[in-house]
Amino acid sequence: MANHYRSDDATVCLRYRELAELDYGQLVGLIRPALSGSIFGLLGAGFIDYFYKSVARRPDSYLVGAFDESNKLLGVAIAVIDHNDAYSSIMRKHWFRLALRANFHILTPRVLTWIARGLVSRSGQTSCRDMDNIKSRLLVISVDSDCMKQGVGSELINNVDEWFRSVNIPSYLIFTEESNIRANRLYKKNGCEQLCIRNYRSKQIVVWVRHTHSEI
Ligand SMILES: CC(C)(COP(=O)(O)OP(=O)(O)OC[C@H]1O[C@@H](n2cnc3c(N)ncnc32)[C@H](O)[C@@H]1OP(=O)(O)O)[C@@H](O)C(=O)NCCC(=O)NCCS
Repeated sequence: MANHYRSDDATVCLRYRELAELDYGQLVGLIRPALSGSIFGLLGAGFIDYFYKSVARRPDSYLVGAFDESNKLLGVAIAVIDHNDAYSSIMRKHWFRLALRANFHILTPRVLTWIARGLVSRSGQTSCRDMDNIKSRLLVISVDSDCMKQGVGSELINNVDEWFRSVNIPSYLIFTEESNIRANRLYKKNGCEQLCIRNYRSKQIVVWVRHTHSEI
C-alpha cells in the first residue's frame, strides 16, 4: 500500500480518505491534467469546478483522495454509480444556468468547433460489447506529478473498488485516450480488462472494465 511517497528530500506520509466539502477547492488544479483535450479542458477551470462539485454532491458518487500531513491533496479518484444520469442531469442544469445568465461567452470558436466535430463523429462511433450494460464509472483519476510512479494511483483504484463493493456494484468502466500511456499502463497493471477501442469525437478511446468481485 502506498502510504508514503518519497520527494527529493523527505519521505511524506499519505492518508487516504473520502473528500469533504472543504477539500473541493483543491480538486480543480489536480484533475485538470487528466482532462486536457476533453470538453472539460476546453471549457476551463470554472466549468470543471462546477461539474465535479455537482458530481461530488450526488449521493451515488465517491471521491477519494491521498492527503499529506498538511492536508494537501496529492491524488484523487472520482467514481459514480450511474454515469448517464449524473452527466445528463448536471449538464441540463448547467445549460439552463448559462441560458438564465445569457452567458454565451464560453461559446468560443474553439468550443463550437469541438461540439460540431463531436456531432459529426458520433455517427462513426464504434460500439462496444457489454459496454451499455455497465453504468458505473471511474470518471477521473489523477496524481500530483511529484508523487507519480509510487503506487498512489493503484491505491486509489483499490479504494474505488472497495467502495463499489460496499454498494454491491460488480463492474465499472474506465475511459481513457489511447495516447495516455501512463493511465493505460496503470489500468493494465491493476488487472483491468480492455473491452475495446472506440472512436469518440475523433479520438481513440480505450474502454476498460474492472470487476470488483462484489457478491451481487
Ligand atoms: C495515470 C496516473 C493516475 C498514474 O498514477 P501513479 O500514482 O503514477 O500510478 P502507480 O504508481 O500506481 O503506477 C504507475 C507506475 O508506478 C510503478 N510503481 C508502483 N509502485 C511503485 C513504487 N513503490 N516505486 C516505484 N514505482 C512504483 C508501477 O509499477 C507503474 O509503473 P509502470 O508504468 O512501469 O507499470 C498518473 O500518471 C496521472 O495522474 N496522470 C495524469 C492524469 C491522467 O492522465 N489520468 C488518467 C485519465 S482520467
